[in-house]
Amino acid sequence: MIIVGGSSSRDLAKEMSNILGCAYIQAATTKFPDGECYTRIDKESLNDDLVIVQNTYPDSNLIEMFLLQDAVKKMGAKRITLVIPYFGYARQDRVFKPGEPESAKVMAKHLGMVCDRVFTVDIHKESILDYFDCPHKDLKAAPAIADHFKTKGIDLVLSPDLGAKDRAKAVGERLGVPYDHLEKVRLSGSDVKISPAQMDCDGKNVLIVDDMISTGGTIVAAKQALAEAGAKSVSVACTHGLFVNNALERLTGNALEAVLCCNTLENEVSHISVAGIISDALKEKW
Ligand code: R5P
Repeated sequence: MIIVGGSSSRDLAKEMSNILGCAYIQAATTKFPDGECYTRIDKESLNDDLVIVQNTYPDSNLIEMFLLQDAVKKMGAKRITLVIPYFGYARQDRVFKPGEPESAKVMAKHLGMVCDRVFTVDIHKESILDYFDCPHKDLKAAPAIADHFKTKGIDLVLSPDLGAKDRAKAVGERLGVPYDHLEKVRLSGSDVKISPAQMDCDGKNVLIVDDMISTGGTIVAAKQALAEAGAKSVSVACTHGLFVNNALERLTGNALEAVLCCNTLENEVSHISVAGIISDALKEKW
């Protein structure tokens, strides 16, 4: 097996190759003078199973993913596995208003044209993976998140909404503490209203877990609701830290005990590694 790290996920891909003890190639990706993507795998041939690790967000990384697949195919890759740590466009998984595309389906259909297997991590909706015709699996970051907080004295794990309650359950059970969910109503793209948890938060060290933090609006509202409910401290961990529009600054200035995310998107707080979880999946027979 050879692991190819695309430009979005070099550290993660390198860590995976160390865990698996297999060869690592870093794709040499630059831009043409007009801004188009140029990429190259600097090897004579690739007569092996190939694993490409690359996000499909933002759009420039999506283009690189398409080009890398073609490059490794032409160099003789036996089977191609795509590891897409963060699958972009997953939130537009249906037509909400007439005239919109089903973006997630479009992306999956096109990404699946050359590859033989696909892994994602905490994709926003697992049903999107059914658009791939090849074997596919969504891997869960919850064990890595829970293990990171094992010694941090967490008393209660909460998800910000009902949709993410299974994540809170998985983290809570691994930590051996209770879990619950908050009630969220979205008011606009960046503002939400959060109602308190049913479970008593008074004096508790609470950990909020979510699949992604984008504008940070969800977490700001959740923190406020928990402060009003008497929580002693509030820590936050998500899988994908998008942190758009200075969301990280907004959150760190909000008296949160910790703000952390996984290394599916590499940034200054992506200290929770999913390399082990992905490597274990790559070892499975197929
Ligand atoms: C929503 O369904 C997701 O799980 C996240 O809660 C949401 O995308 C976070 O967005 P924001 O940080 O902008 O509130």
